[in-house]
Amino acid sequence: MLKVGIIGCGFMGGMHAACYDVLEGVKLCAVADARGENAAEMAEKYGAKKVYTTGKDLIEDADVDIVDICLPTFLHTEHAVLAMKKGKNVFIEKPVCFTKEEGKILLEMEKETGAKVQVGQGLRFADEWVWLKEAVSNNTYGKMKTAVFRRLSPSPNWGWENWLHNVERSGSVALDMHVHDVDFMRYLFGEPDSFTATAQRNDKGIIEHIFTTYTYDKSVVTIEGCWDFPVDFPFEESYRIKFEKGTAVYKLGEGVTFYPTEGGSEKIEIKPSFEGVNDIGGNVSSLGEYYNELKYFTERIASGEPLLVATLSDAVKSVELALAEIAQVGGAQI
Ligand SMILES: NC(=O)c1ccc[n+]([C@@H]2O[C@H](COP(=O)([O-])OP(=O)(O)OC[C@H]3O[C@@H](n4cnc5c(N)ncnc54)[C@H](O)[C@@H]3O)[C@@H](O)[C@H]2O)c1
Repeated sequence: MLKVGIIGCGFMGGMHAACYDVLEGVKLCAVADARGENAAEMAEKYGAKKVYTTGKDLIEDADVDIVDICLPTFLHTEHAVLAMKKGKNVFIEKPVCFTKEEGKILLEMEKETGAKVQVGQGLRFADEWVWLKEAVSNNTYGKMKTAVFRRLSPSPNWGWENWLHNVERSGSVALDMHVHDVDFMRYLFGEPDSFTATAQRNDKGIIEHIFTTYTYDKSVVTIEGCWDFPVDFPFEESYRIKFEKGTAVYKLGEGVTFYPTEGGSEKIEIKPSFEGVNDIGGNVSSLGEYYNELKYFTERIASGEPLLVATLSDAVKSVELALAEIAQVGGAQI
């Protein structure tokens, strides 16, 4: 039985706890949150015996094999370093770190300690995105000509001390939400040859909406990320990939449709790999990608096989690209 400790019992911590609860061979044994009542509630719900009010105490004291870090981004690195030094395997939510320097520290620590580390780039485990990865890797529809990814959200106001809107803690939408699609683009197509980012800012000069266009040889990719849509604006996660042999269109909740070049359309049947529904709220309604990523992580730790998807080095590169885009537009806040 793998013993897990979650640090950060907010939105994502709740998602992860629900997944561990239904995963076999895994037990949530310890939880930590600066808001003691959050930790106590999660411990009660899932039967975790040890409850802490700081992540550092959990790392120091709890008898766990895995430390799962669901803290605000600016706190990821210091906790991950302590956990690795203590001999734990570590799951870190995305964006894995806050700066390029932090990325270097994490990678050095992974090498030095031999810890197994995976990052919560959950799209890599989401059914419609796994389908897309296979289509691109297998060249099923020929070369990609253009690709458009969108992630559009109302303002995320649930965070502890409203940290998502504090650039010093989240890095803005251009790091926090945008990194999902930046990471998946890199997973599909590798590093772009060049990119041009444009941002719209609020009256405090903070990026609220980013549009970046990337070039790959003769192909072009655009990613749009925004989190200041009106409160009732429906969350959108989507892609549209124009291949030589047709176009694939996906929208969250509507699945994937393929339009062959010669005409017609085909709804792609993608069987959900896990159908658990979350009771935590937020934009996503299914636990699917979180269950899949934690299943992969825990199974590989149990079997001793290497972690090959959503690795630390890959996640650091995705953060570096998002940070380079932010630098190109003059910073997350000006
Ligand atoms: N993979 C995804 O789809 C996804 C979605 C949302 C958030 N995230 C990521 O998950 C991470 C957490 O985000 P969230 O939305 O859960 O935030 P949140 O504010 O809901 O939860 C963070 C929790 O950390 C606690 N906390 C703060 N400082 C602490 C400390 N020093 N020790 C212990 N607890 C502390 C807070 O009390 C809070 O409960 C972020 O990196 C975010 O970007 C990922």
